[in-house]
Amino acid sequence: MKLKGVILAGGTGSRLYPLTKVTNKHLLPVGKRPMIFWPIEKLVNSGIKEILVVTGTEHMGDVVSLLGSGKDFGCNFTYKVQDEPKGIANALSLAENFAGGSNLVVILGDNIFEDSLEPYVHRFLNQGEGARIILKKVKNPERFGVAIFNGDKITKIVEKPEIPPSQYAVTGVYFYDNGVFDIIRTLKPSERGEYEISDVNNEYIKRNKLYADFFEGWWTDAGTFSSLKRAQELVDEF
Ligand code: DAU
Repeated sequence: MKLKGVILAGGTGSRLYPLTKVTNKHLLPVGKRPMIFWPIEKLVNSGIKEILVVTGTEHMGDVVSLLGSGKDFGCNFTYKVQDEPKGIANALSLAENFAGGSNLVVILGDNIFEDSLEPYVHRFLNQGEGARIILKKVKNPERFGVAIFNGDKITKIVEKPEIPPSQYAVTGVYFYDNGVFDIIRTLKPSERGEYEISDVNNEYIKRNKLYADFFEGWWTDAGTFSSLKRAQELVDEF
């Protein structure tokens, strides 16, 4: 089974304003590198060489200038523009032609983590069909998609719950079979006007086809001032 990679790097970056007034969040530094280098390196180091980068209209030029064809990373980039920041599932819908029937590993461009993706990729390839997510126990689950468990089994994912049903956040690393695009076509925008990736994952739960792993090493996003600071501390490159 062939696996291709997708990095989602659109959105407004509004929680990091004014750092994001004239540039894209994923071009901001984390350690000695632009933020987006970190998820790219995780994909390439796990053997994924065909990578789609999705970003908005405003900064696509800068993203392409920075990343180029992929030859400096040992991979091959394809680019797609998301006209409006209509949510993570909307950004992923743009990957349908790129996927061309292949399964996908999708990483949110502001996710920075320690583990190699290799073991998770192997487990997804062995599972054959469906979806796979990676969870991490966190102190502030209300900021994330949060898993509800019945014993070991995930029964639902709730997006940014006021009262979190568990401490397990859904990280921004997702594995999907090709059925994901049909699921996205059935979605309605949420109250915040976005096509939510948690709705996609809940549909896989309903079909009994969502599997989950837990990151062993550290994980953070870098989309708020406090999480960007934490990312700088965790990568510890200076
Ligand atoms: O980081 C993990 C969390 O990411 C998950 O736990 C949540 O379930 C998921 O909804 C998401 O939550 P955030 O509120 O952190 O998502 P945010 O709007 O910050 O978007 C995360 C990345 O997704 C962003 O760095 C770029 C990409 N994105 C986002 C939107 C809204 C796009 O490419 N296009 C978009 O329209």
